[in-house]
Amino acid sequence: MGFLTTRGLRLRFREAGSGLPVLLFHAFPLSGAMFESQLAALSGQARLLVPDVRGFGESSGGEGPATMDALAEDALALLDHLGVASAVVGGLSMGGYAALALLRRDPGRVRALVLADTQVGADDDVARGGRETLARDLLREGTEVLMERLFPHLLGASAPESLRASVAAMVRASSPAAAAAALRGMALRTDSRDILSRFGGPVLVLVGEEDVITPPAKAQAMARLASSSTLVQLPRAGHLSNLEASALFNQALSEFLKPLASATS
Ligand code: MLT
Repeated sequence: MGFLTTRGLRLRFREAGSGLPVLLFHAFPLSGAMFESQLAALSGQARLLVPDVRGFGESSGGEGPATMDALAEDALALLDHLGVASAVVGGLSMGGYAALALLRRDPGRVRALVLADTQVGADDDVARGGRETLARDLLREGTEVLMERLFPHLLGASAPESLRASVAAMVRASSPAAAAAALRGMALRTDSRDILSRFGGPVLVLVGEEDVITPPAKAQAMARLASSSTLVQLPRAGHLSNLEASALFNQALSEFLKPLASATS
């Protein structure tokens, strides 16, 4: 674990393993803690770098909307700080939006992409309006608003009670200001179909079969768009597929990283 100061923010990151760098952005409104299982399972074959994105976990928040570009720039500052020239870059849901923003800002830093339970398009006006309403309600009423409106959709039907409790604790630990800033930032994101279709490196697309926020059809569309992609649909998992089907998720990620790691060494 470490901290980095960049553009007035103090960002916390987790780091485990050595070799091929793999940067993972977490989902909204959670923290890098959601990738603990991946850090434990994959640190034997790669160097995992998992920031708490601005305002979440132990990272401080910035001014205004937390745009996906800002999240990408924070992560590029982390790569610079660690002397990492290029990495496998990925994320789950909001994390996928940030990974695609990083690809747009600095494609030369991206060896391969991991897009989990996410989507490549921008919000339409209805979705943008919904995010703004949620942001305002959150700022007025606090994080219980997220428990009522978002939490019920995060996990699949078969998620055990213990997982529900730990995800609920992560949601409740988020700050209303940071969550509102991230909602406004997600609403501003651009359509990334152009950069995904231009990307020549390997792309792993993962999705929980029961994901109702970014359903399998969106993952299938991303996999079709990328020139070299592998699509893995995880049974008995919802939107947080890395937590709900961690063994299969880790296995797919491990298989994806193997040839990249041997090309590095
Ligand atoms: C997430 O899980 O990061 C969010 O639900 C993504 C979104 O709201 O688009």
